[in-house]
Amino acid sequence: MAKRRTQKKTRSRAALRKSPRKVVKLASVRKSAKRANGNGLPRPSTKPFGKAGKALEGVKILDFTHVQSGPTCTQLLGYMGADVIKVERPGVGDITRTQLRDVKGQDSLYFTMLNANKRSITIDSKNPKGKDILERLIKHCDVLVENFAPGALDRMGLTWEYIHKTNPRMIVASVKGFGPGPYEDCKVYENIAQCAGGAASTTGFREGPPLVTGAQIGDSGTGLHLAFGIVTALYQRNRTGRGQKVLAAMQDGVLNLARVKLRDQQRLAHGPLTEYSQYGEGVPFGKATPRAGNDSGGGQPGWILKCKGWESDPDAYIYFITQAPVWEAICDVIGKPEWKTDSDYAKPPARLPRLKHIFATIEQWTMTKTKFEVMEICNKVDIPVGPILSMKEIAEEASLRETGTIVEVDHPGRGKYLTVGNPVKLSDSITEVKRSPLLGEHTDEILTKVLGYSAKELADIKASGAITAPEKAEKAA
Ligand code: COA
Repeated sequence: MAKRRTQKKTRSRAALRKSPRKVVKLASVRKSAKRANGNGLPRPSTKPFGKAGKALEGVKILDFTHVQSGPTCTQLLGYMGADVIKVERPGVGDITRTQLRDVKGQDSLYFTMLNANKRSITIDSKNPKGKDILERLIKHCDVLVENFAPGALDRMGLTWEYIHKTNPRMIVASVKGFGPGPYEDCKVYENIAQCAGGAASTTGFREGPPLVTGAQIGDSGTGLHLAFGIVTALYQRNRTGRGQKVLAAMQDGVLNLARVKLRDQQRLAHGPLTEYSQYGEGVPFGKATPRAGNDSGGGQPGWILKCKGWESDPDAYIYFITQAPVWEAICDVIGKPEWKTDSDYAKPPARLPRLKHIFATIEQWTMTKTKFEVMEICNKVDIPVGPILSMKEIAEEASLRETGTIVEVDHPGRGKYLTVGNPVKLSDSITEVKRSPLLGEHTDEILTKVLGYSAKELADIKASGAITAPEKAEKAA
C-alpha cells in the first residue's frame, strides 16, 4: 500500500514537470501528499531545530504603529521572523524616539526597546507620492498594523474598503482604546486602559485610592493580544485566502487580564470572599470587588512579607503562598509544628479567618532571612515563594541573559543597552534581537529593493517631499 502511494506521488511530480496545466497537477500532488502524510502538511524537516527558518519568515508587516501598544506587537512579530517595515513621519518619526531621552540627541530607550527587528521608512502619508508608495506597500505586505487615534487611518485615505480592494489578502490590525460603544472615539494611554479595564479599581490597598500597576498591561498587554489576533488571522487566511480586520481594544485586553476580579464580582452575590484578608479582619464587603492589597488572586492565600534588611532595602521582601498541600512543611519551617494538628490551623477553611495572624507569624521567620535564603529553604520543601526582584537585580540576573530574555544590544548612536528579548521561546525559531532602526534608515533600500522604484523615480520621490521633512524637501526641490 505504502509502495503504491509512493509510486503515485512520483508519477504526479514527473507529470507536473511536463504538463502546462500546472494548477490541476499541483492540486493532485497536494492531494497525494496529504494522503501520504495524513494531514496535508509537508514532511517533517530534517534540518536541525533552529535551522529551518523562523516561525513567521516570509510574513511582511506594514507597521504604522507608534508609542507602545502597537510597537510591542510588531516587535514580537519581528522576533518571530516577520519582515517589519515601520512607516514613520519624515523628520519626526515615532514620538517615543525623543521622549524620556537619556542620551542627548539619540533615540531614547523608550523607542529602542520597543522597535527591535524592524526596518524604518519615512513616508508622509498625506503627500500624493507618499500615498503611491503606501499603495505599493499595501500590495506587497500581508498585514497592516496601526494604533492611531480613532479615525486617523481613514483620514489618511487608508480605509478598510480601500485596503481590502487594493490587497484582498491584507490583514488590518488595530489597537484602539475602546471597542465600539460610547467611548470608541476616545484617545487612550496605558493608565486610562488600566482604569477603564477594571484593573485599577481592584489594585492597591482597601484604605487607599485605586492604583495602577507598573506592568504595562494596557499597552504591552494589548500589543500581545493583537499579535495573537494577527497570527490567528494569518492562519485563517491560509484557508480563506482573504484578509480581515483584527481589533484589540485596550479596555478589553486589560479586562481579559483582570478576569479573576470579574469572577469575584459575581461571587460577591453569594457571600463574602473568604480568601480576601478583609474577610478575616471582619470588614464587610461592599457592592463591588474590593482592592485586596497583596492577597493572592487565586485559591491559595498569599502575602508579601518582610525579609532581612527590609529596613534599608525597599525590595527585601518575598511573596509567600500558604499552599494547602505543603501546609505541614510551612509549619515546620517557621517553627510552628503544633499548627499541623491544631483545629484552628490544620485545614484551609479554618485558616481563612486567621490569615493576618498566620502571615504575621510567618513574617517573624522571614525577617530572620534574606529573600534568597527564604527562597532556598522553602523551595527545598516545595513551598511556593518568590523574591521581590528589583529592576537592578533583574538587569544583573545571569540566567535571564543566558536564555535571551534580557539582551545587550549595540546601537550606533547610543552604544550598548539592555532590552527585553523574546519572552516566548520556540525551539525551532530562535530569536535574534537586532537593534532598532534609525529614523528612515531603510527608506532607500525599501523603495528600490522591495518596491522596485528606479533611480530616477527615487530622485523624483525625494524631490516631492514624500519621504523627507518639509525643510529638507524645500532644499531638494
Ligand atoms: N505622515 C503623515 N501624517 C502622519 C503620519 C505620517 N507618516 N503618521 C501619523 N500621522 C498623523 C496622523 O494622520 C494623525 O493626523 P490627523 O489626526 O490629523 O488625522 C496624527 O499624525 C496623529 O496621530 P494620532 O494617532 O492621533 O496621535 P496622537 O499623538 O494625537 O495620539 C494616542 C496618540 C496614542 C493617544 C492615539 O494614537 C491613540 O489613542 N491610539 C490608540 C490607542 C493606543 O494605541 N494607545 C496607546 C498608545 S501606547
